[in-house]
Amino acid sequence: MHPARRHLIHDHAELARLGGELETALDGDDRTGTQEIWTRFESALVSHLEAEERWLFPLFSSEHADELRALRREHARLRHLASEEGLAADLRTLRRETATELLAELRAHAAREDETVYAWLEQLPEPGKLEQLLDALVRRAGGIVTG
Ligand SMILES: [Fe+2]
Ligand SMILES: [Fe+2]
Repeated sequence: MHPARRHLIHDHAELARLGGELETALDGDDRTGTQEIWTRFESALVSHLEAEERWLFPLFSSEHADELRALRREHARLRHLASEEGLAADLRTLRRETATELLAELRAHAAREDETVYAWLEQLPEPGKLEQLLDALVRRAGGIVTG
């Protein structure tokens, strides 16, 4: 598997892990913990969505326009849910059910990407573009390559 694809898959796993921690904090009624984990989860989510929109989606412009439109719509929906929940987390009123809803939508979105854009990555006609994507992802992670 190309390291760029592994990098993106690692992001999904990390978001799922933070989401699990968030649910645990909510179940334990740990308000301080919830707020702290929410902050980490939200920044990881926003950074992942931005990276995909800036560097990944443009690699598949014309031939996969419909699918890309659908993925961008899902990003908008995830951002909307996250901003509502971020406000609730700040006010210490974030509910378990709302968090679970966001995490379920995020899981479905991640699964869809795994089968579409992430899978297409390795069939790119210009492999040099994959290297550029990897460079951008590595720079975003502060020079740390994972996986
Ligand atoms: Fe995405
Ligand atoms: Fe993703």
